[in-house]
This record gives sequence, C-alpha cells and structure tokens, in this order.
Amino acid sequence: MRVIIVKNAEEVGKRAADLIEQEMKQHRNPVLGLATGSTPIPTYKELIRRCKKGKGMDFSTAITFNLDEYVGLPGTHDQSYRYFMNHQLFNHVNVNKKNTHVPNGMVRGMKAIQQSCDEYETMIDDVGGVDMQLLGIGGNGHIGFNEPGSSLGSMTRIKTLSLRTRKDNARFFKSMREVPRLAITMGIGTILKARKVVLLATGESKAQAVADSLEGPVSAMCPASALQLHRFATYVIDKGAASKLTLDTYEH
Ligand code: GLP
Repeated sequence: MRVIIVKNAEEVGKRAADLIEQEMKQHRNPVLGLATGSTPIPTYKELIRRCKKGKGMDFSTAITFNLDEYVGLPGTHDQSYRYFMNHQLFNHVNVNKKNTHVPNGMVRGMKAIQQSCDEYETMIDDVGGVDMQLLGIGGNGHIGFNEPGSSLGSMTRIKTLSLRTRKDNARFFKSMREVPRLAITMGIGTILKARKVVLLATGESKAQAVADSLEGPVSAMCPASALQLHRFATYVIDKGAASKLTLDTYEH
C-alpha cells in the first residue's frame, strides 16, 4: 500500500486533488467514487479552485458515484449526502448533475430498498466501474457506512449505524434523536472493485483507526483493513492521523 504522510489537512486536500486530477486526465469519461464527511472538504475546495482557474480541471464528462446516504433524508435536507455533495462540490464545478449519483435514501420497504441498491451496483458496472474511489475513515475504522462486522465481500445495501457513528455524526444535527439510524452504503466488496482507492484521514482522532487498518490484521472488525487486499490503495494522511503508525517506510 502507498502511504503518503503530509503536514496538515490542507496538504491532504492538495495531494488528493493531484491524484484525482491525474486520474481524470487519463479517461474520456472518468468515473469517480466520492465521499462525504469533513475530511474530503479541503480536497473538494482544491478541485473547485483548480476548476475555476481553468487550469485543465474539467468535470464536464465525469461520472460520479457517492458511497452512501442516510435513510429517510431527502436530497433537500441539509444533512443528506446529496445536499452535501451539491453544496461542497457539484454546484461549483462543470459536472453534469445527471451524471452524479448518490444512493437513494427515500425508497420505502425492504424489498424496494434492496432493488434500488442492486440497481446502484448495475449503474456502476454499466459505466465500466469506478476508476478512483475516494474514502474517509470513521473513528471505528468504517468506510462508507460499512460498520465493524460488515462482510468484506458486501455490496450496496442498507446498514444499521453503530451508536459510535451516530454520536460522531450528531454534531451535524440539532440533537442525537435526529441522527438517522439506517443508511444505504456501497459495500466493502463494491469499494474493492474500484480500480484505485484513495483514503484520506486527518487528525489524531483517526490515528487508531488508521493504524489498525494499515498495520493490523485484515478483519471485518476494522472495515478499512480490507484495503490491504487492494492492489492500488493509497492513503493520504496528515501527521495527526499518522501518529500511531510504527513502520518507518512511509512516504513523507
Ligand atoms: C461518515 C461517512 C464516512 C466518513 C466518516 C468520517 O460516517 N459515512 O464516509 O468517512 O463519516 O467523517 P469525517 O470525515 O467527518 O470524520
């Protein structure tokens, strides 16, 4: 695995934007897997800056698939991941919104939900798969909303959020009661199908999860550890997130 350790969150954003830009330039229709959360915000800011500067950053032919969405929040809700993506990236770059995909959290009934999840997988496959998947990491090692215990072979499906994740994300909601209990998420198997994966982490609160995922065993108890099985997985992390790593072979 490639591990790049940089000074701070801003540098993480720049290095990640470099990787995304290089990848996009290699494809006529780049297919990007995108993530939400506070960690990728500097990356999106940098992509927007490069797009506005007209320096060759071009989203007009890009196709995007987001990792996950809360169940029960419409795209107009300010805590839905569709809303996040529109406001943090899509509204500010020349992407065609029709080519941006976020799992639908508003489907009702278990059968219909699974059908819509299967359709999400088919849509990804129909465009030839994801070229580069961007990821954050939860404090408990989750990727997307694949909580500890998730099958390493899982595909897009509905998941129950752990109390830890709900508490971590409660800061974005008015109260804990409003934090959804369920989410639709790409599976770990879906993520592993992407041709390249880039995981971002910043701050000491992520240090244990980063260390477990890179230097611990591959285990469903730390979903991000599944990336050890991927041929082209890159971590771009800051010093805080790297503070519990023990090997001295990482890139600085
Ligand atoms: C949420 C998202 C994850 C994200 C995680 C970490 O649970 N579903 O995709 O990686 O939060 O968020 P943050 O970057 O805000 O720490």
